[in-house]
Amino acid sequence: MILADAILTLVSIVFGMMLRLEIIYSEYSLFGYFLREIWPFIIFAVFLRPTVFYFTGIYKHLWRYATWRDFIRLAESILLGSIILSLATLLIIYPLWMYTFPRSLLILEGMFSIFLLGGWRVVLKFSERYPGDFKWDKTVFNEFRRVLIVGAGSAGAQMARELWDNPQLNLRPVAMLDDDARKIGRKTQGLKVFGPIIKLPEIIQTQGIDEVIIAIPSAAEQTIQNLRHMCQVSQVSCSVVPPLSDILGTSSDSSFSKFRLPMSMPQITGEEIHAVVRVMQSRNLSIGAQTIAFEKSAAEVADAAYAVAVANGTAGLHLCVIAAGVGPDDEVITTPFSFVASANCILYERATPVFVDIDPETLNIDPGKIESAITSRTRAIIPVHIFGQPADMDPILAIAQRHNLLVIEDACEAIGAEYKGRRVGALGKAGTFAFYPNKQATAAEGGVLVTNDEEWANLFRSLRNQGRDQFDEWLMHSRLGYNYRLSELNAAVGMVQMKRIEDLLRKRESVANEYIKRLRKIEGVSPLRLALTTTRMSWFVYPVRFSEVINRDLVMTLLAERGIPSRPYFTPIHLQPFYRKRYDYKPGDFPESEKAGNSILALPFYADMKPEEVALVCDTLAEVVGEVKSSSSSA
Ligand SMILES: Cc1ncc(COP(=O)(O)O)c(C=O)c1O
Repeated sequence: MILADAILTLVSIVFGMMLRLEIIYSEYSLFGYFLREIWPFIIFAVFLRPTVFYFTGIYKHLWRYATWRDFIRLAESILLGSIILSLATLLIIYPLWMYTFPRSLLILEGMFSIFLLGGWRVVLKFSERYPGDFKWDKTVFNEFRRVLIVGAGSAGAQMARELWDNPQLNLRPVAMLDDDARKIGRKTQGLKVFGPIIKLPEIIQTQGIDEVIIAIPSAAEQTIQNLRHMCQVSQVSCSVVPPLSDILGTSSDSSFSKFRLPMSMPQITGEEIHAVVRVMQSRNLSIGAQTIAFEKSAAEVADAAYAVAVANGTAGLHLCVIAAGVGPDDEVITTPFSFVASANCILYERATPVFVDIDPETLNIDPGKIESAITSRTRAIIPVHIFGQPADMDPILAIAQRHNLLVIEDACEAIGAEYKGRRVGALGKAGTFAFYPNKQATAAEGGVLVTNDEEWANLFRSLRNQGRDQFDEWLMHSRLGYNYRLSELNAAVGMVQMKRIEDLLRKRESVANEYIKRLRKIEGVSPLRLALTTTRMSWFVYPVRFSEVINRDLVMTLLAERGIPSRPYFTPIHLQPFYRKRYDYKPGDFPESEKAGNSILALPFYADMKPEEVALVCDTLAEVVGEVKSSSSSA
């Protein structure tokens, strides 16, 4: 760009000289006399113009745009350059090197510069907007919409950068708005920060705003609603960054209470948004650098040699079952106290899930009950690290070895958890992490298989990609496979989250500790007990267990009435309608799982949950539990 400007400045001078030569000094030759005399002027001018542009900010953003406002700023910049050029010529260049003072050349050069440099920017703009199809009759010269970014934090700054970098959006950030007194009056990303936020309608008016973007990911839903309302009243359009609840379709979900305290909430920062935009810009949307990087980070977290990303946790479990060679006549042992996918993955291969009840303390499969469930048809065991607490793996692995069974870990809820100091995931033959938005780290959707077996890793890569082997020719498929690929967009989000996994796990742990501290005071409500073998808990949800005298479902209803969402975990898999019908299961078959399923409630829980929010939940819970107890004792 700088070089182009310098060349065009040179061309402007040559044009100016030719005109001047013809009109005034036609008896002199252009190169023989005039150029010899004027070269110091040319050199100075060619350096000066880009330098002035640099200092007046033309290179910062303007070269990519071509609105009238930009054109005026460019003309101003050229005029400033011409003034400096005139002064330098008059005071230094003319007295030292030149016979005449080139007044008319200065004027002509300035005019040609405006024409050539301005025109060059217009051409750039259109060629950028219509790459490969640069037709003047098709182009529409849109004015940019003036954008106010609410939130001058990292998400706001990120948004400003994105808008600058993407002129085709036709959105121009012109100011920011924030409540932070330290930021008000200063500049962020070259934009003045106004404040406080309550002044939104006034700023919209005074700054001539066309569009407002709210970039405060941590704002309470109520704050967002208020801001939206102000925009509506001011008749400007408004969007929220990240509108994650919209993307996920959870905004109308009942998991958001009327006070908008969410049940769970992923931590999405400008980095995730930036990562997604970068992938879009790269045009490489599947099986690319992001997937590879995401896999590498997951392998590191699990201390595993290999990781393979797939579309979701269920797909990962399914591929493990296939890799284990499980077929229609086989049985696979697992726990009934889990999410239904832990057993569905066995049914996908037409094998039979055999349930083994849980240890009531840890809520994980009870190793002491596994051996009696093993038959000649048993092929594998799928322990689930429920709520992020590792199952008791050593006895499970020992049993598996004794009976020649494979162990597949359902670690969908337990990324980063440690069993006796060892990371879960690849303690058995293979395991799967899940990245749904309520998980410790999210990719919006996604799963990663981890294993230490290279053959299994290669098999997973083939199975997720329609059965194509690494060296298969184009559209050749060595085996029956699936489309379980993860998009680069998901992988990019997952990758950014994995970079912060330690921080995310630490934050969740401190929210859990806050809960533990406050729940001590509520009689009849117990937190999850951690096993001695759990050297690191990876908190997935925050479950509490009620004593038998407390009606859990009534507590849930009363909490909801007070604006606190909660969820029962889990209806045991064997009592799911489909399993009951197919296998004739009935209540009483797995009593510990059923007792847990009837008495556990998960409370709102997410990494960015504030201590005041935990306090609100616990105070409300104490109130509600008191009410439920007194109503049952008076009944
Ligand atoms: C224990 C368990 N297994 C499997 C899954 C399935 O993961 P996904 O929803 O990514 O398919 C989940 C998801 O919540 C889970 O909690």
